[in-house]
Amino acid sequence: MKIGTPKEIFEGEARVAMTPESAKALQKLGHECMIEAGAGALAGFADAAYADAGVEVVKTAAALWKGADVVAKVRAPDASEMKRLREGQTLVSFFSPVADEANMKKAASKGATVVAMEMIPRISRAQKMDALSSMANIAGYRAVIEAGNNFGRFFTGQITAAGKVPPAKVLIVGAGVAGLAAIGTSTSLGAITYAFDVRPEVAEQVESMGAEFVYLDFEEEQQDGAATGGYASVSSPEFREAQLAKFREMAPEVDIVITTALIPNREAPEIWTPDMVAAMKPGSVIVDLAAEKGGNCKLTVMDEKIVTENGVTIIGYTDFPSRMAAQASTLYATNIRHLMTDLTPEKDGVINHNMEDDVIRGATIAHAKEVTFPPPPPKVAAIAVQAKKPAPKELTSEEKRSAEIAAFKQQTKNQVTLLAVGGALLLAVGLVAPASFMQHFIVFVLAVFVGFQVIWGVAHSLHTPLMAVTNAISSIIILGALMQIGSASFLVILLAALSIFMCGINIFGGFLVTRRMLAMFQKS
Ligand code: NAI
Repeated sequence: MKIGTPKEIFEGEARVAMTPESAKALQKLGHECMIEAGAGALAGFADAAYADAGVEVVKTAAALWKGADVVAKVRAPDASEMKRLREGQTLVSFFSPVADEANMKKAASKGATVVAMEMIPRISRAQKMDALSSMANIAGYRAVIEAGNNFGRFFTGQITAAGKVPPAKVLIVGAGVAGLAAIGTSTSLGAITYAFDVRPEVAEQVESMGAEFVYLDFEEEQQDGAATGGYASVSSPEFREAQLAKFREMAPEVDIVITTALIPNREAPEIWTPDMVAAMKPGSVIVDLAAEKGGNCKLTVMDEKIVTENGVTIIGYTDFPSRMAAQASTLYATNIRHLMTDLTPEKDGVINHNMEDDVIRGATIAHAKEVTFPPPPPKVAAIAVQAKKPAPKELTSEEKRSAEIAAFKQQTKNQVTLLAVGGALLLAVGLVAPASFMQHFIVFVLAVFVGFQVIWGVAHSLHTPLMAVTNAISSIIILGALMQIGSASFLVILLAALSIFMCGINIFGGFLVTRRMLAMFQKS
């Protein structure tokens, strides 16, 4: 089938839904690719690069819509594009089914199939197609960069000959995809970063990224992500009050606030009130990522940057991904490519629109002349969900001491039993085996026992360096085995060969795994 990408019509939109790289992957699925001339220009992809990747470059949007069986684009179609959409054609793009209900019905009545990228369910299997997440990730990163651009000071603290510079304090509200990306960027720039979310299960993620989770002095039943597909639900008025009180307390301290709080299909909750803005220091910056949905701060002006009377800059841009068009296009085109892989299971260039598939069904809003929105809830539990653990009971110091004594007694009992059984077995072997064998055997048994005790106590995080040590041990064993392999006894040769083989796996496998692990920490 022919997959075509037109130039985005929406003013200022710089992203493109197909890159030369994604086109190559689409062709491997048996599809042909088309692109409208100049579609990738603003994202840094020239027509020539597409042509080199085997993509047909067509001059006009009309020719593209006419020739393509699948049209992949970024923004929802406008009126002129809706006119071009035809029966049997598949459109893959962002397409807000609630706000754009009329166009959705029109597409269905025309007999076109529409896959709305924001409707891809947030389940593990669909992560690679989750365009909302990849765009939110970029928005979170860019929000910090934009804040830094408007903030007159360093993020990181410095002590220089010219004076001491305190680190910036950044508060990120909402630790979803955009929030976590913002936290990562902010901490890596050296700011003291605080983060808050109504879902307490994200506290661990926040802290593992080097930020401080803002806890409220409030007891409330944890929000259950399972029921809401990994999203937050509305909090109680009391919880909201506790949240606002905490923010009010923090407002005079923080330099940068990035708000990303969102509850799906609702207007953005107000979490940064005008009195908090008024309490902030001049020169502070607020980036309101929820500007498109009414803003988490009601002073935000959508698509604009304003400066309040007390000198606080509020940024309400809604096009952060488009401001990083090269990166955003690469990720979005990859999301589309993965979706097309699911739609082309046989890799034969034929689309199988399987409405039994959770992901395809969830994202399809018009199909076979029917409006197929809203989809049934996904059968698979959301990614963000973790099983609720009962809170551990606080022990008194007396209880703790008796628990420790009991554990020690049990451990001693186990060790004594192990020694007795081991000793009895050694004696039994010693009754029949020759003395020279017993000498080596006892050393071997002790080595296994000590090695086991040592390795068992090593923390998981230290297993990679441990592997390097086992590499060294394996080398010693290989030396021993090489010395024995010329033996006259078949059994010795067999054991030596087996040792060389197993140690070889350990050494080469160890090197490979260690190399991979190190590559994860290397900056390219
Ligand atoms: P998400 O659903 O992954 O994260 C939202 C987070 O907000 C969730 O963790 C949720 O628990 C939390 N939350 C909800 N209510 C809250 C409250 N009252 N207080 C604190 N936390 C609360 O959403 P994602 O993908 O991270 O997007 C965040 C926002 O960024 C959305 O509003 C989205 O529309 C916007 N966005 C903006 C872009 C731009 O260019 N301005 C581009 C992409 C996304």
